[in-house]
Amino acid sequence: MDEALRRQIGAQVKNRTLDLKPPACAKLAGGFFIPSGVIMAARSKTKSAPKRAFLEIRDVTKKFGDFTALEDITLDIHEGELICFLGPSGCGKTTLLRAIAGLDVQTTGRIYQKGRDISDAPPADRDFGIVFQSYALFPNMTVTKNIAYGLVNRRMGRKAIASRVEELLELVGMPGSGDKYPAALSGGQQQRVALARALATSPGMLLLDEPLSALDAKVREQLRHELKDLQRSLGITTIMVTHDQEEALSMADRIVVMSDGRIEQVGTPIEIYRDPISAYVADFIGSMNFLYGRMDAGGHVQVGRLKIALDDAANQFATGDDVVVCIRPEDVAVRDLAQIKTNKYAMSIREVEFLGSFCRATLDVDGDKDAELIADFSINLMRDFKLTRGTRLKVALPTTRLQAFRGDKRGE
Ligand SMILES: Nc1ncnc2c1ncn2[C@@H]1O[C@H](COP(=O)(O)OP(=O)(O)O)[C@@H](O)[C@H]1O
Ligand SMILES: [Mg+2]
Repeated sequence: MDEALRRQIGAQVKNRTLDLKPPACAKLAGGFFIPSGVIMAARSKTKSAPKRAFLEIRDVTKKFGDFTALEDITLDIHEGELICFLGPSGCGKTTLLRAIAGLDVQTTGRIYQKGRDISDAPPADRDFGIVFQSYALFPNMTVTKNIAYGLVNRRMGRKAIASRVEELLELVGMPGSGDKYPAALSGGQQQRVALARALATSPGMLLLDEPLSALDAKVREQLRHELKDLQRSLGITTIMVTHDQEEALSMADRIVVMSDGRIEQVGTPIEIYRDPISAYVADFIGSMNFLYGRMDAGGHVQVGRLKIALDDAANQFATGDDVVVCIRPEDVAVRDLAQIKTNKYAMSIREVEFLGSFCRATLDVDGDKDAELIADFSINLMRDFKLTRGTRLKVALPTTRLQAFRGDKRGE
């Protein structure tokens, strides 16, 4: 544990009133315990809806020397919501989180929390708790001391600290573990303790930087649910950084998709999944077919041997434009084709991959590589249509399920 991190964690707790609760708890499905007083506090908080967003980020830019890590970030985060910053490694997620925390001050731009300009405030004067990817617990301190770390700087009696720590341990599903040392805990347990430490001072906002990334898949999935339940019950405004789209889709109220230091799209998981604003977002979230073609004079996109009609192609593209047409594998239609007027094709199943709850088929038109498609078929559909490798079948690409963007295979 380096000194800088120690200061960051210690810094969160200055000048704040403790929020001690009675020990009565309600157990959540996931395993965390919510002290009843905390729920009350969360509910009463949400009543006074602020006119301004809880957190306002305005034109934030961050440069490291000549390198621009964040460019013109403007974003509103509402009270009580769970926001995920999602994007590939190096796109600026951590940098933005650290700017919000005041750990790396932005080069230009302003940040307001509950209407207060915190742009130049040191971390100690901001109101957040933070959890990092690597557990960052103090290895030479017990769980109790780790959690109490931020509390001891205050004028708070030993007894009150002990009861607050036990309450937090119950909150994260680890009652009675206070005397253990971090080395005796699993990764998942260490992150629970880190979370308890971040929540110890009842901060107004929770910042999580890839908190689940270092855990193995099963624990990660379990903690995902528990963390979401906890966040919802406490009503605490939360920003979670992740590069894992599944994590973002399953947990976030809204997702901020980032690319190269910029915001690419902001929306609910369904909006981002259903209506990606760019081929980049479409590619980053979920599985997607990309069919590269060119607008013909008749208003269709010619992709290899497929001629694809779009709903409002004429408004978007000119004849000769390079266009990429996107469709999700689960949106390739096989049933009820009589109701679909356009984009019906005879294709063959070249490969089938059995994936447990569904099959992923690779389809093509007489071996045409340009018009190759991945389609996800339910087991029922496979059985009803007797689909197997080599089967010829009719599929439709419903126009309502198509997205089209300007661009060719080189990705522009
Ligand atoms: N202290 C720093 N000095 C120089 N470059 C940095 C520093 N911190 C981050 N960067 C660069 O800024 C970019 C964004 O980093 P980061 O926010 O950590 O990405 P992410 O969290 O999305 O993986 C990366 O290219 C990274 O190398
Ligand atoms: Mg990061």
